Amino acid sequence: MRNSSVALKLLNTFAIDVRARSIVTAHSESELLKLWWKASERNQPILVLGGGSNVLFLENYLGTVLLNRINGIKISEDTEAWYVHVNAGEIWHNLVNICLDRRMPGLENLAMIPGYVGSAPIQNIGAYGVELKQVCEYVDIIQLETGTKIRLSAVDCQFGYRESIFKHDLREHNVIVSVCLRLTKDWKPVLNYGDLTRFNAQQVTPRQIYEMVCKMRRNKLPDPTLVGNAGSFFKNPIIDSSEAKDLLHRYPDVPYYPQLDGRVKLAAGWLIDHCGLKGYKLGGAALHDEQALILINTGKANGSDIVSLARYIRRKIADQFSIWLEPEVRFISALGEVDAKGVVS
Ligand code: FAD
Ligand code: EPU
Repeated sequence: MRNSSVALKLLNTFAIDVRARSIVTAHSESELLKLWWKASERNQPILVLGGGSNVLFLENYLGTVLLNRINGIKISEDTEAWYVHVNAGEIWHNLVNICLDRRMPGLENLAMIPGYVGSAPIQNIGAYGVELKQVCEYVDIIQLETGTKIRLSAVDCQFGYRESIFKHDLREHNVIVSVCLRLTKDWKPVLNYGDLTRFNAQQVTPRQIYEMVCKMRRNKLPDPTLVGNAGSFFKNPIIDSSEAKDLLHRYPDVPYYPQLDGRVKLAAGWLIDHCGLKGYKLGGAALHDEQALILINTGKANGSDIVSLARYIRRKIADQFSIWLEPEVRFISALGEVDAKGVVS
């Protein structure tokens, strides 16, 4: 597909060397609609993309990639909170910095998550004890087929662990154009994860939390500009309490996180590590040496290499723990998104 096609290697953090028929960029809502209509008139598939940090391209994409780069931030406040209305084309980590610089804390635990603001609600981004849903006031979307703009409250978004309505009922033909965050003025530090537990809650500043989160991330996670990856490849599995009891009996040192509904979340990285797979290589794909939940492109991996390794890991974990891991990363085939779970089964 080399003729009249464009490279996607720099538009996906896995750095898979694939191509698309065309790439177009929207800087405003009207431009977004125009570009969508133009591409759909050609009867080609359209893929809205942010930073490509949560996708795996399985092959060349036979359609138009539409980059949402609508910028702009508006801040308002009342006595209780700041309301930060951010357009989808802002870079998430820049937003975290802007809020901290303006002394509006609340996003410090979510520093350094790659990607754009418009993608953040899709999997309800989360890290170091905080999820987007805790600060999300509303999400604005445009229904592309009608051009209608709709505002969804945080409840409407049906947020869950790496979940939202945008992965299900609103997956197709809807684009997130802005997100509003509510940052309370009654800030309280969230210090329940990793090295953050060492801070004194009475004295710690948002900036110190931010610095510690950045340090932990730099230590553990491969920099996608140097090593192709899409962060955690699988979700952490959530199992029933009875299954968790059995597992803890067999593996007393397994890390586990009780959930509000009585179920228990496990660390997929620990399960994979426990099978001795850290650093394991298959074709051009490998498991990261420091963090077993991260699949990396060793240089020339294609989508099939990553899928083969993912299948191998899933099978190993199922054999050892009777748990089937589910991909967190979204899989994109020639004509659009495909069911990642089905592909790795
Ligand atoms: P993309 O990969 O471009 O898109 C993801 C999906 O959303 C695609 O299906 C795309 O079609 C769709 N989409 C994108 N923009 C829009 C839009 N405006 N409207 C509708 N659909 C859209 N995630 C976490 O939650 N926590 C972490 O700690 C974390 N750490 C990471 C670390 C590394 C090193 C990497 C590479 C990834 C990490 N991730 C993490 C995953 C990723 O950063 C997030 O999922 C992020 O929100 C993806 O943003 P993006 O703009 O790159 O999305
Ligand atoms: N662990 C191991 N070996 C490994 C990796 C992890 O034993 O190779 C153990 C750790 O020692 C720890 C536990 O597993 O006890 C959890 O590890 P870690 O703190 O690194 O977090 P994670 O569960 O692997 C999740 C998110 C990350 C997020 C971090 C911090 C998922 C799928 N991943 O990772 O998000 O940054 O917590 O909150 O929930 C992403 O979604 O792409 C992502 C990077």
